[in-house]
Amino acid sequence: MDNFHNLCINRRSIRRYTDQPISPDDVKTILEAGLMAPTSKSSRAWQFIVVEEPEMLARLCDVKPLGANSLKTTPLAIVVGVDTTRTEPWIEDGSVAASFMQLQAADLGLGSCWVQVHGRSTADGTPSEEYLRELLGIPETISIVCILTIGHKNEERKPMDTDKLLWENVHVGKW
Ligand SMILES: Cc1cc2nc3c(=O)[nH]c(=O)nc-3n(C[C@H](O)[C@H](O)[C@H](O)COP(=O)(O)O)c2cc1C
Repeated sequence: MDNFHNLCINRRSIRRYTDQPISPDDVKTILEAGLMAPTSKSSRAWQFIVVEEPEMLARLCDVKPLGANSLKTTPLAIVVGVDTTRTEPWIEDGSVAASFMQLQAADLGLGSCWVQVHGRSTADGTPSEEYLRELLGIPETISIVCILTIGHKNEERKPMDTDKLLWENVHVGKW
């Protein structure tokens, strides 16, 4: 990594990937980033399910009707779950780990996209989490935050324009 700020400027959600698989070393590095993420009371209660098998990736596409396009071409999906019996702020713990993995993927020159699962439903109204639970054999104690899609980029996205950041959302001292 040359500079973390540049990484933030250049990271964009990528929803189209090439056929090139991700090297096992890169998959390991990305998972290590997730496993090093901070958690409330150091619970480290996440569970990451790595899916690379094409038939299973195809079935993940039905997790919800909208916002799942990046699953169509991804060579790698990481389902981010958290054991809710072991941590109360499970959404936060899962989200931080997912963000760490996205930033690590960006640092490796890979694209990634967050596919929201918590609170979403499949086309027939089944909760997306239940669909994944059945498909992947996920225990009842694990709640699902999101699926990350990660792959070699097959689309260009413009970097962030730092002149257009929402500085009006920042309040100094008081609102
Ligand atoms: C909590 C959260 C949920 C998201 N859900 C989805 C999703 O379901 N599908 C999708 O394609 N992108 C999803 N995204 C990606 C956002 O659409 C994306 O970050 C946003 O449009 C800004 O674009 P950028 O990441 O390229 O800066 C999600 C991002 C976050 C943080």
